Amino acid sequence: MTTLHGRTVLVTGGTGGIGKETARRLARLAARVVLVGRDLGRARSAVEEIRRDTGNGDIAALTADLTRQRDVRRLAGELTDRYGALHVLVNNAGVVANRRELTEDGVETAFAANVLAPFALTHLLLPVLRASAPARVVNVTGGIPRGRIDLDNLQGEKSYVGLSSYNQTKLALMAMSYAFAERLAGTGVTVNVAYPGHACTSMNKGLASTTYPVLARPVVPLLKLLMPVLYGGRAVVDASRSSAHLASSPELAGMHGTYVDSRGRPTRWPASVRDERNRVAIWEMCRRLSPVDDARWPGREWGSTG
Ligand SMILES: NC(=O)c1ccc[n+]([C@@H]2O[C@H](COP(=O)([O-])OP(=O)(O)OC[C@H]3O[C@@H](n4cnc5c(N)ncnc54)[C@H](OP(=O)(O)O)[C@@H]3O)[C@@H](O)[C@H]2O)c1
Repeated sequence: MTTLHGRTVLVTGGTGGIGKETARRLARLAARVVLVGRDLGRARSAVEEIRRDTGNGDIAALTADLTRQRDVRRLAGELTDRYGALHVLVNNAGVVANRRELTEDGVETAFAANVLAPFALTHLLLPVLRASAPARVVNVTGGIPRGRIDLDNLQGEKSYVGLSSYNQTKLALMAMSYAFAERLAGTGVTVNVAYPGHACTSMNKGLASTTYPVLARPVVPLLKLLMPVLYGGRAVVDASRSSAHLASSPELAGMHGTYVDSRGRPTRWPASVRDERNRVAIWEMCRRLSPVDDARWPGREWGSTG
């Protein structure tokens, strides 16, 4: 049987929704699990719930608002100082914003949470991940991951519709993840992307009708009625399967630069992600917004799984 005993796992957005179910699955495999959420009260109750439910006492939480770069840096420092090891990082937390708003760093909120936070957190935790290798990074995508990436509108600079922008940030996250995988080939740290599938969670319950594209707005009331019926109940547990699988499955040791669907099956990357120009542009955009020192990385040529 798979065991993660002796392994330390960090799950962002682990205090609720799909992330909490991912954390619960990994706790059942005896990992030390560290959850990340913004609120100490919610974090404490998630820790207690998972401890009670799994019998694993080695569950803890750290708080950070991942839309803030200073919180991302503090989180990476706290994890490193407290645990000194990290075998799995699940960048699960994601945000859909109803309106275009800028964070204190001057970055659009959804882009900050969905792209910049995983970029910076992975980079800042790389020393501890490499020291703990073999280690895995799992990035959670979402939306409808197809179509072109509009590099000039990734932060809604030209136009903003919440769900369309969310979709763009998830494509950008995938391109950034692919670029990470290229740079980390051969380091003992693997990077893969999971699509979870739908679940009725706080993310979609809180959406305003103006967050949907104009053509979909007339059917939003119906969608809101159907959502709990179609994606309530166990859907949230099922949606944690692909990321938990990438995080823990022994057969996937060494699997790198792969995108898996909600059942954990390797899937072709979207064309826009396979386009190297997008990967380079998004990597540079992230570096500009959250300066990282990637000069020491191996940067070895990495064969595409396209
Ligand atoms: N739900 C779906 O149908 C669906 C479909 C495809 C992909 N996804 C993806 O799956 C992932 C999880 O989605 P979900 O539906 O579980 O979302 P969710 O219910 O909104 O997730 C809640 C979790 O995210 C944390 N969180 C939210 N904003 C945060 C921030 N700014 N900083 C730190 N933590 C934050 C919450 O922490 P607090 O305790 O602080 O609230 C909580 O732990 C996301 O990446 C999403 O894009 C979801």
